[in-house]
Amino acid sequence: MQAPIFKNFEKSFSSPFRANPTGSIGVNLLHPMLERIGMKELSNRTAAFTDSVIRRMTRISNKYGAVNLSQGFPDFDPPAQLLDSLSTIATDPKPLYHQYSITWGSQAMREALAAKQEHFMGMPINPNENIVVTCGSTEAMMAAMMTVTNPGDKVVIFSPFYENYGADTILSGAEPIYVPLNPPAFDFDRETLEAAFRDNDPKAIVLCNPSNPCGKVFTREELTFIADLCKQYDAYCITDEVYEHIVYAPHEHVYMATLPGMFDRTISCSSLSKTYSITGWRLGYTIAPAEITERIKKVHDFLTVGAAAPLQEAVVTALNFDDSYYQEVLDLYTAKRDLFCQGLDSIGLTHNVPQGAYYVMMDISEFGYDSDLDFCEDLASKVGVGAVPGSSFFREPVNHLIRFHFAKRDETLNAALENLKSLRDKINPRG
Ligand SMILES: Cc1ncc(COP(=O)(O)O)c(C=O)c1O
Repeated sequence: MQAPIFKNFEKSFSSPFRANPTGSIGVNLLHPMLERIGMKELSNRTAAFTDSVIRRMTRISNKYGAVNLSQGFPDFDPPAQLLDSLSTIATDPKPLYHQYSITWGSQAMREALAAKQEHFMGMPINPNENIVVTCGSTEAMMAAMMTVTNPGDKVVIFSPFYENYGADTILSGAEPIYVPLNPPAFDFDRETLEAAFRDNDPKAIVLCNPSNPCGKVFTREELTFIADLCKQYDAYCITDEVYEHIVYAPHEHVYMATLPGMFDRTISCSSLSKTYSITGWRLGYTIAPAEITERIKKVHDFLTVGAAAPLQEAVVTALNFDDSYYQEVLDLYTAKRDLFCQGLDSIGLTHNVPQGAYYVMMDISEFGYDSDLDFCEDLASKVGVGAVPGSSFFREPVNHLIRFHFAKRDETLNAALENLKSLRDKINPRG
């Protein structure tokens, strides 16, 4: 059931960044403990951070023993071959596997990754010149942002957005310019996007494709429009493509870097977390032209030195999987998406149907809550299901949506759906 899920934009907005009384982000809030003992304040740029709402919801789910469909990680094992490879590496007599790797990624991993991405992107990728292995896409995005922007530079970000992008811009001193993705298809208004470029002269645009949380997969035509703006206004494109292999038919993933003239100005960030069900391994990467990669290497070196060496060696096994593995991943998530969406339909709950990634947004308007965070707490404590308040993804004051993820075993999804059947009995409409 594809529903028009954006209503009530005026309702209150709870974002992961606190606003000061004048509404801007980045205010210096003196910590009471520091005030008491007369110490200097901590950094202004981090004063507005709250903890991640997504990870907070995992803690709340655990507290109430709820079925946790909030933070996006699987409750099933990675491929057996990958785990075998990990134990082989762990006991490999080569002692260097347990010491620092080459800072921008082990040779073996970069070579395997270059071959895999060449295959899927259909363009040459040089393992020595175009790749930096990072600690997840999280670090890749941060390194990309710091490589591209100076303090005060503007960066265009579509809203809703993955919550780290706001923090990335604040940490690098850049200023986000938000452009809405409009329901029900989460299209963007071309004139609004063009105006964001024309009026702000942005240094970059962040493109999450497929998108978390709304499951949008950008079409080739949309990407071409964005690419043309990047070229016309001389902006970089920083992509986040962690769900590149989770794109449901008939939709197709198009890599921004493969569009004419775009490799030169695109930093493609991605991850092995989702594709191989190894979110805890913290392996991601950037792919970019040699000159940009040279700079990313330095930023990455000073941020983290490098990703975990033995895990980089072990993951080569997975990077060498053939096409059938990626088809299996897609079949698995297609079945899970259908199971979960049909379950919500049978309870009569309104939701979107994602084109990619593994999240569903549900409309909670009927319950009349002013705060979607309060709703999610009640959902965890009374109904026994963990979800993320949609407001943590939107710049607009949206608080009538919550996000579930379905990267879970079928029995976990069925347990969540079973609990959701009592939703209307256990949570009475307010107001
Ligand atoms: C859009 C998006 N980007 C990045 C990440 C984090 O990826 P990684 O585990 O590679 O840091 C996530 C995790 O949920 C995500 O949804």
